[in-house]
Amino acid sequence: MKFFVDTAEIDQIAELNDLGMVDGVTTNPSLILKSGRDILEVTKEICDLVDGPVSAEVVATEADKMIAEGRHLAEVAPNIAVKLPLTWNGLKACKVLTGEGKMVNVTLCFSANQALLAAKAGATFISPFIGRLDDINLDGMDLIADIRQIYDNYGFETEILAASIRSVNHVLDSARIGADVITAPPAVIKKLAEHPLTDKGLEMFLADWAKTGQKIL
Ligand code: E4P
Repeated sequence: MKFFVDTAEIDQIAELNDLGMVDGVTTNPSLILKSGRDILEVTKEICDLVDGPVSAEVVATEADKMIAEGRHLAEVAPNIAVKLPLTWNGLKACKVLTGEGKMVNVTLCFSANQALLAAKAGATFISPFIGRLDDINLDGMDLIADIRQIYDNYGFETEILAASIRSVNHVLDSARIGADVITAPPAVIKKLAEHPLTDKGLEMFLADWAKTGQKIL
């Protein structure tokens, strides 16, 4: 399973990238706002840092304008994935941009039928939003499982990019179901390393080591 980092904060991407944890990056208008940076500048910096796909989202809502914005964003670097909302116009733009050989991430997916349409429009990635479904008392994981089954039934090559990940359990469940990619905030990725028994065990080992009076270096 690939790990994408869901942020536009360069320092945080760089820290994870140095550890080989970053297979790609996702951004959206809210994350660009949070970064306080210019979209084209920060996206270029991210693309220079990371080898994998970097999603940059259009903000137009009409197909022709989405296509124009998508082409402009794709000029930033060869590893740009143009992010388009899952609307009818977004699907039209997806068909055109993927036809030009550009990577497209269709975002704001909340149903398996939407995901089916995105695959038929040639999307490179489909982004079902787990956390936002959980927020309204629906099960985001059911959606990931449904899309996995449908894509496997028909051999669609669109990659399932589990998004709106809020917890380590979302990561685990996505991996169990077989999502191709998760995108998560840096804090969630770092939290995957944590376990209370690891902390407790280390504390005991260090206490016993101190009693030996020895040094390794
Ligand atoms: C990623 O592509 C999405 O934009 C992001 O995961 C949304 O997450 P949120 O629902 O926590 O804002």
